[in-house]
Amino acid sequence: MYRNSPATKFKYLIPVFVLFIIAPGLSNILRSDDSVTFLSENTNEVQTRDSVNNKENRTREPAKQQSPDSLLDIQRNLKAEELVRGERLFYGLAYPKDQSVNCAVCHNTSVTDTLNWNPDASEISNKYLHKSARDLSNVLLKPVGLKMAQVHKNINLTPEDIVLVKAYMDKFVNIGLRPNKPVITNLFLFILASIFFLFSIIDITISKILKRRWVNYGVLLVTGLFITYTLVINALALGRSIDYSPVQPVKFSHAVHAGQNGTDCIYCHSSATYSKSAGIPPVNVCMNCHLMVRNGTRSGVSEISKIISSYENQKPIEWIKVHNLPDHVFFSHAQHVNAGKTDCVECHGNVKEMNVIKQVSDLSMGWCINCHRTRNIDFHDNLFYSQYKDLTEKMRKGEIKDVTEGMVGGTECMKCHY
Ligand code: HEC
Ligand code: HEC
Ligand code: HEC
Ligand code: HEC
Ligand code: HEC
Ligand code: HEC
Repeated sequence: MYRNSPATKFKYLIPVFVLFIIAPGLSNILRSDDSVTFLSENTNEVQTRDSVNNKENRTREPAKQQSPDSLLDIQRNLKAEELVRGERLFYGLAYPKDQSVNCAVCHNTSVTDTLNWNPDASEISNKYLHKSARDLSNVLLKPVGLKMAQVHKNINLTPEDIVLVKAYMDKFVNIGLRPNKPVITNLFLFILASIFFLFSIIDITISKILKRRWVNYGVLLVTGLFITYTLVINALALGRSIDYSPVQPVKFSHAVHAGQNGTDCIYCHSSATYSKSAGIPPVNVCMNCHLMVRNGTRSGVSEISKIISSYENQKPIEWIKVHNLPDHVFFSHAQHVNAGKTDCVECHGNVKEMNVIKQVSDLSMGWCINCHRTRNIDFHDNLFYSQYKDLTEKMRKGEIKDVTEGMVGGTECMKCHY
């Protein structure tokens, strides 16, 4: 057996030999390394919260390097099983001290549709990539700030575990967030239908495998209908993006600002009344309030600090535009908001209740025209309309009661198309 071969026996001696040589020089590291391997049971008992929390303790007794706390400052290569434990700790699957905290419950590891106010796993991992395990330990065990103190309250990890969680988080930077839902179903069905369609055609004309021809005709009919339907629906939706709701770089919520705080839309979208575009507020506008408000009830400091760093570094926040009309269409907010007295809600839905902005109208030509055909305009009080002499005349005679936008040219191609 190979077990008895002299080479294998010798193998056991190598580590001892190596230890013997490097031990004196690296005594510090070695001692702490030992504590990792030996104390896995003991650390829990030896290591009270105090030894981590108590800064004075450390400064008064610098000699106390052996404390498990010092693990936080040591760079070492972790074994594969330690990395796995780091991952299990992050997902709350390992139970230190009979209680576990699932970081992933708050710090999403996959993309979500709904707004999660907590920073996601990718964000915190990136932020701490170049920080130390001690920094992570501080934010977990000695959280500062209203929100952080509240959410990280029950975390009770040992320094060793924190090193492992940190190692997993560093790895997570490369893994990134998992995409939420696979988008294959429709495409998959379409391809499948196309294959059956082709098969039936070939079978009818060339191969003639199926004896009963009506089966092939049936398949052709069903798949043909499905394919046409899919193509038509998708062609109509081409360039349309109703329900579009991209994840924005800062978790800005209209529900909080326009809803709860009751800030007027025009405070931020000030050009809506006099210009073509409603405009997105520059970060200075945010700073009017966020110079003072540094803590959000839902997101703590994590989101607002992005505004502040954008302001300080003079790097504008890169908002993703939600509503997009094609270039060949002319649309002006001023005409609608100011002259037409159309409420934002009619076109943008109940923004006051949206945490994440969503496009509620399809912005199709039919949508514009439908409103113009039916919407009454303020014909009397607008001097501009006095040039429509015949309409004024008809109204005076009582032939018409109201004037719609369509009657004053709201359905003429040139009004909307350059
Ligand atoms: C405190 C400032 C603020 C207030 C108040 C505010 N908004 Fe906004 N709004 C923003 C910011 C910032 C964005 C860009 C980020 C986003 O899309 O969420 C935005 C985006 C939008 C968009 C999407 C723009 C696009 O990209 O197509 C619409 C529509 C909108 N706001 C409508 C409203 C309406 C309606 C109100 C009033 C009920 C309102 N906003 C109040 C700041 C504000
Ligand atoms: C008649 C429908 C309509 C009304 C009313 C309306 N909007 Fe819009 N809004 C649009 C359309 C259409 C776009 C897309 C414009 C584009 O892509 O050129 C848009 C775009 C926006 C944008 C994105 C930035 C921009 O200007 O392109 C913001 C912000 C916005 N609207 C806010 C508002 C606010 C605030 C109000 C109310 C004061 C309002 N809108 C009223 C139809 C409307
Ligand atoms: C008129 C004052 C005002 C303006 C302008 C303003 N905010 Fe706020 N914002 C607040 C207040 C007040 C809160 C705290 C709300 C709370 O905690 O319930 C807040 C909270 C927030 C939060 C955290 C929400 C939470 O609960 O965690 C974010 C993110 C935010 N604002 C982003 C922005 C951005 C981006 C802008 C600029 C486009 C902006 N704010 C402009 C008043 C303002
Ligand atoms: C109950 C929800 C919750 C749980 C559980 C939780 N966190 Fe957090 N964490 C938060 C929130 C909220 C913030 C942002 C607070 C703020 O910025 O004020 C945060 C912030 C952080 C940050 C960034 C701190 C900074 O400097 O910006 C890190 C790192 C972090 N958490 C790691 C973890 C780890 C590791 C765990 C698991 C052991 C964990 N969190 C468990 C809610 C949670
Ligand atoms: C909710 C109703 C509504 C919708 C939707 C709407 N409009 Fe209008 N639009 C009006 C009203 C009302 C007026 C008249 C404003 C006034 O009194 O001058 C108007 C006027 C106009 C005018 C000026 C016409 C003129 O006589 O000079 C243009 C251009 C226009 N709209 C373009 C559009 C486009 C493009 C869209 C679609 C992207 C659109 N509108 C969607 C209500 C609407
Ligand atoms: C009230 C504004 C308005 C009027 C009036 C209007 N259009 Fe449009 N039109 C639009 C908008 C908005 C779109 C973009 C629709 C989209 O992207 O789906 C559009 C798109 C189109 C397109 C591109 C095909 C498409 O559906 O995307 C053509 C062609 C077109 N219009 C022709 C016309 C002609 C011809 C007239 C006159 C009979 C006319 N339009 C009048 C608003 C208008």
